[in-house]
This record gives sequence, C-alpha cells and structure tokens, in this order.
Amino acid sequence: KFPESVKIVEVGPRDGLQNEEKIVPTGVKIQLINMLSQTGLAVIEATSFVSSKWVPQMADHTAVLRGINLLPHVRYPVLTPNIQGFHAAVEAGATEVAVFGSASETFSQKNINCSIEESLQRFEKVISSAKEAHIPVRGYVSCALGCPYEGLITPAQVTEVAKRLYELGCYEVSLGDTIGVGTPGSMAKMLNSVMTEVPCHSLAVHCHDTYGQALANILTALQMGISVVDSSVAGLGGCPYAKGASGNVSTEDVLYMLHGMGIETGVDLSKVIDAGEFICKALNRTTNSKVAQATSKS
Ligand code: HMG
Ligand code: MG
Repeated sequence: KFPESVKIVEVGPRDGLQNEEKIVPTGVKIQLINMLSQTGLAVIEATSFVSSKWVPQMADHTAVLRGINLLPHVRYPVLTPNIQGFHAAVEAGATEVAVFGSASETFSQKNINCSIEESLQRFEKVISSAKEAHIPVRGYVSCALGCPYEGLITPAQVTEVAKRLYELGCYEVSLGDTIGVGTPGSMAKMLNSVMTEVPCHSLAVHCHDTYGQALANILTALQMGISVVDSSVAGLGGCPYAKGASGNVSTEDVLYMLHGMGIETGVDLSKVIDAGEFICKALNRTTNSKVAQATSKS
C-alpha cells in the first residue's frame, strides 16, 4: 500500500549546488529558489551555514537567504552543523534548520570534523536553542546505506543515530544514501530496523543516484509507508566529502513516478522542469533528469 500523498523536500539549491567547483553567482541561486518557490513545493532547502573554508560554494548563505522572495506557504530550511552556524542562520532570517550527522564514524570526521558522539552533543545545543526560538529542526543521517570510507554500515548503526536525533527533538529524520550504493534490498532492511525506533511518519529518504538505484529505493520506501522524499531539481548534487557521490535523485523523475502512480504531491512538474532548465543553462551542463531529457524541446 502506497501513501496517498508525498511531501517532496527539494534540496537542489543546497545539496545540488554545494559540490559545484565554480562558484555559482548568488543571483543565480536566488533566482533558482524563487523559481522553485512557484512550483508548489512546500519545502526548499536553501543553503548551509557551514564553514566557507570547508564548502566555499555556500559562503554566500546570508545573501541567499536574505535575497530570496520568501513565500508564506513555503519553508526554507538551512543546514547548521553547530551553534555558530545556528546563530548565523537565525541572524540571516532562517525559520527552520537541519542538523546533519552520520552513521559512519569516519564520514563524520571527514564531513564535520568530529566523532558521532561529539556531533550529537553539538546538535543537542542547536536543538535546545531552536526550541526556545520555536524553530523546527530536521535531522539527517548520512551513510545510511553505505560509507565511502568504511563501506558496509549496518542497519543497527543507522538506527542508533536516527533514534538519537529523534529523541533530541528532530521532527523528521532524513536517511541519506550519501553515495547511492543502496538497493531495494538494503533499503528495506535498513528501514525495517529504523522503524522500530522512529515512527514512520517522521522519516524521510534522501537518495543519491550514483548507482542508478534511487527510484527503485524510493519506491521500496514508499511501499513501507515513507511519505517524505528528498530530491534535487535536474538531479544536481553530490557531497564534497563523499568522492564519487553523484547527484541526488532528480525531482522531475520522482514527480513523474509519483504522479503516474496517482500519488499527490501538490507540485507542478512542468514548472520544476523549467527551473531545472534555468539552472542547467546557468551552470552550462546537461540535466541528470531523464524526464527533463525526454521532454526537452531543444
Ligand atoms: P572545524 O574546523 O572543526 O570548526 O569545522 P571549529 O569549531 O574548530 O572552528 C574552526 C573555524 O571554523 C573557526 O574560524 C570557526 O569560526 C569556523 P577561524 O577562527 O579559524 O577563522 N566555524 C564556522 N564558520 C562558519 N560557519 C560555521 C562554523 N563553525 C565553525 N557553522 C565544521 C567544523 C562543522 C564547521 C566544518 O567541518 C564544516 O563546515 N563542515 C560542513 C561540511 C558540509 O557542509 N558538508 C556537506 C553537507 S552534508 C551532506 O551533503 C549530506 C546530506 O546531503 C545527506 C546525505 O546525502 O547523506 C545532508
Ligand atoms: Mg545529500
């Protein structure tokens, strides 16, 4: 049984762009987010308040957040790895944030320069400050289906971190297949385990399409009751600390599948295709979305 409706969390402006080598002009980022705001998407992850030494592409976070036309019915979460990032985000006007941890010890070190345990202590600070400010916090668990450094990650490892994030107060925990190595088999095993500790309606899947398994993995998750899916316009993306991590599953392809199944999203596919065309032209690259390729007029 599939859910009747699915919430798409558009991560293109953040996950999609963070890995671009050439700095994308702030105006282009703002226009992309403004275009996405007009598509019916309810959640658009806008940028990251991370160190510009670590991720130079996100250095203009404040200008991006202040520059976009914030629509009342759209939420614009931003990544905040620590309390410093949280304060900067709030200062820039953020009304929703996300913390990002990992099920892999090595990935945690490479990505945020601390152990899993230290990261959870940092998140606790962010989450308690956020609570006081009535700011909802989303949580990510990276390497949920495999790690670029450690390889195999067990469902129990993922479950432990997901549970901790949920208990700390994250309203939703997004399970990231950071390097896209998962299959419907490993996705089902991992979800079965995580769902023993975190309610299904508070979980999301975040699939990268490196091995071409993303749609199949998402379908598996939907079948198991998951109704929140992260995706990226034009399939942009990758993680700077996960070599070989190609783009997120494309929003266009996810929408095409969901709508074909009669599942509501509230999102206008053709408008997302337009936003994808815009950003691909600006980046001078071709789209990773099969649907956008198939329907392209040029
Ligand atoms: P650190 O170097 O350990 O930080 O970095 P520190 O606390 O030791 O401070 C060192 C310097 O960084 C200081 O500056 C701080 O002020 C500064 P200095 O005195 O040297 O001039 N600093 C900051 N600057 C700006 N914003 C901040 C901040 N915090 C400290 N928030 C840190 C630790 C977490 C900051 C760093 O490792 C970092 O920025 N990492 C981010 C990596 C990242 O963005 N990765 C990509 C996002 S995660 C992802 O893509 C996966 C996901 O999509 C899910 C999936 O697919 O699995 C979410
Ligand atoms: Mg990601």
